Amino acid sequence: MSAELKVGVIGCGGHAQTHFAMIKNEPRMRLIAIAEIHEERLARAKAEHNPELAFHDYRDMLDSVDLDVVYVITMPGHLRSIVLECLGRNLHTSVEKSPGMHAEETKQMRDAACKSKGKAIVSLNRRYIPQILAVRQLLQEHGGAVQVAANYHKPVSGLARLGRRGIAPSEIVCDAIHHVDLLRWMAGRTPLEAAEAVEVHAHSWHGDRDGTPRYNAIITFGNGCHGTMMSHYGVGYRIQTAEVHAENMSAYLDLTRAPQIVLYLDGKLREEPLDLDAVGGPDFNETRHFADCILNDTTPWSPLADAVKTMDLCEAIEQKHCGKL
Ligand SMILES: NC(=O)c1ccc[n+]([C@@H]2O[C@H](COP(=O)([O-])OP(=O)(O)OC[C@H]3O[C@@H](n4cnc5c(N)ncnc54)[C@H](O)[C@@H]3O)[C@@H](O)[C@H]2O)c1
Repeated sequence: MSAELKVGVIGCGGHAQTHFAMIKNEPRMRLIAIAEIHEERLARAKAEHNPELAFHDYRDMLDSVDLDVVYVITMPGHLRSIVLECLGRNLHTSVEKSPGMHAEETKQMRDAACKSKGKAIVSLNRRYIPQILAVRQLLQEHGGAVQVAANYHKPVSGLARLGRRGIAPSEIVCDAIHHVDLLRWMAGRTPLEAAEAVEVHAHSWHGDRDGTPRYNAIITFGNGCHGTMMSHYGVGYRIQTAEVHAENMSAYLDLTRAPQIVLYLDGKLREEPLDLDAVGGPDFNETRHFADCILNDTTPWSPLADAVKTMDLCEAIEQKHCGKL
């Protein structure tokens, strides 16, 4: 394989635009082909991103174009069959979150990835934010997180409407999964570990209005770290925050817009900026990581096998599970 990875994108809706930008900024990737069933979106993506080839049917793209990597960026209800097809063809495959409608679908994709020569990455993109990687490195230098907490709040959700069409799961699986996964990632005590939840006490209910689920959970991780999470829809604003604590270290993360981190070490506010160069630089992202993995034959930090654990935890919180997992 040459150092230039030939890329195809399946699904050219709203979120695909973020992936198109990352692919464009990754010098080792070249966008070759796109597939989209919606006529207007296909035409717009063709005009804006200039692929060599554009298809209505993704199977025609896979049959006729020699690709190395495929990004599958559809709603969760459409993902599984496409991902299974791509992995069956031994293509390196980026799987949008949530990886399927429920954990069983994630497991089917995981099993297909085990048999495939292609690598699979799940686009749990909070794992790849440089500031998060830098805080995580500091946590590990301080013996690992002892307590992690995350908030993920939003206005009223429109996902229930998509849920009724069978293409989106509940808010915690489809959306707040970002901060459930962030808890696991921050609680990891070694560079590649995302901590595994062994016990959860969840208190979840639905508000009076459509699209207002409420989730709260206290989580125990197998490595001894503890976590709490709160996610409410139909509250004031889109707010994404987290806080993490280790021995003599605390970090407060505001991820609502560009990441802002307030860090305390040994009882003092740390004024100097985080060392982002030590974790791949300020432009590091999931796409760069995926290219690294493919070209160096290493495993992505968010493989399907690990995403199953995040999906299981989301579902346990949704089901108000109280006790060991
Ligand atoms: N990581 C993030 O921050 C983030 C943000 C927004 C959305 N997302 C995720 O991205 C995914 C897509 O969300 P979106 O807002 O872009 O949805 P969208 O509906 O705007 O785009 C999905 C596109 O996939 C197309 N599609 C469906 N089946 C297809 C098929 N068989 N072949 C080709 N195209 C097909 C649809 O026509 C649509 O244009 C969702 O899973 C969502 O959870 C992630």
